[in-house]
Amino acid sequence: TGLTTIDSGFVNTASTRSAITFIDGEKGILRYRGYPIEQIAQKSSFLETAWLLIYGELPSASELEEFDTRIRRHTLLHEDLRRFFDALPTNAHPMSVLSSGVSALSTYYQDSLSPKDPAQVEISTIRLLAKLPVMAAYAHKKSIGQAFLYPDNSLSFVDNFLKLNFGTLAEPYEVNPVVSRALERLLMLHEDHEQNASTSTVRLVGSTEANLFASVSAGINALFGPLHGGANEAVLKMLGEIQSSGEGVEKYVERVKNKEHGVRLMGFGHRVYKNYDPRATLVKESAHEVLAALGVKDDLLDIAQELEHIALNDDYFQERKLYPNVDFYTGVIYKAMGFPTRMFTVLFAIGRLPGWVAHWREMNEDPATKIGRPQQLYIGSPARDFPTR
Ligand code: CMC
Repeated sequence: TGLTTIDSGFVNTASTRSAITFIDGEKGILRYRGYPIEQIAQKSSFLETAWLLIYGELPSASELEEFDTRIRRHTLLHEDLRRFFDALPTNAHPMSVLSSGVSALSTYYQDSLSPKDPAQVEISTIRLLAKLPVMAAYAHKKSIGQAFLYPDNSLSFVDNFLKLNFGTLAEPYEVNPVVSRALERLLMLHEDHEQNASTSTVRLVGSTEANLFASVSAGINALFGPLHGGANEAVLKMLGEIQSSGEGVEKYVERVKNKEHGVRLMGFGHRVYKNYDPRATLVKESAHEVLAALGVKDDLLDIAQELEHIALNDDYFQERKLYPNVDFYTGVIYKAMGFPTRMFTVLFAIGRLPGWVAHWREMNEDPATKIGRPQQLYIGSPARDFPTR
């Protein structure tokens, strides 16, 4: 066919143009619609940032209020959809539950099957932003055998989510403002990251004119893997294993460097950042603040810091420009907040949702969009005749 290059992993191929997020991986810069991530984390809210990503500019006060109100109004799941969770095993991974739940949304909202209709795209956006956290909390409740709560729409996006996860029918629940602000900040840091594997998946599925729920469900499945969003869960498992094995941090780093059975330093390295991930800097600050404010002392944070210190001063990591990424310290914070390890990637998914939606919409609005259809270099058998038997 005249095709001579393979770009496995798309290391050097742009699949699209995009006006949403800017990254300079050499300098460690991340901006949403031009605004530096550090300023977003300090000054914005989850929904304001979602609006910025999806619609391109910061909302006015009244636009934000209306957006917030509409999302609160759509938090309820169809009662049958609540029962959908009963059909799944209690020990199911919450990420599997979440992707199935989002996929099921297009069975309840069949108007979503017209993804080119702007009014439809708008209502699907609101429904998804409103219902994903509720489904995530139900996946959590299901896994610990507790009753589901109905959303409390007097609460903000994040506080409602906390109540759905940690409230019970037996007792009143008070949101801890330290936890609320810290979770909001973490979710904001995850909102977009240009053409990562899950966002590229959302765009690829969406390029076939599949609906928003189908596209985002595919994105959740891409995020599940330990090389992507699943890394936050994998980091905590790694820290726990180092702690329980008693082998010591240095020994573990040696095993990583020897590439023993594919052992990696989870939460380290990034395709784009060849410098400290700016999100990791912010998450690390939060880890100390949140644990101090909650009065939690966790040896896993000490192990993480020791790992980081050893790695940053080691030739193996320096030569390969491997630095902590966003997933390295998040797990320690989520654990201090009370989330089970298997919920960590679900939290990443809630954070990333506005980015997925923004990219799906940008792709649909861009006249240059074509169905995603990569080429291959065929390396199989030449033509041959099927044997006569
Ligand atoms: N530990 C040990 N060695 C590593 C690591 C690591 N975490 N990451 C990369 N390397 C080595 C790799 O073995 C290779 O070495 P060599 O040149 O000797 O073969 C070199 O560094 C380049 O790595 P690569 O695999 O070609 O890099 P990539 O851009 O294809 O992969 C990555 C990026 C994030 C998948 C990888 O760094 C990794 O597996 N990290 C651990 C998982 C992780 O933390 N993922 C979260 C990513 S950030 C947020 C997100 O997307 O969720």
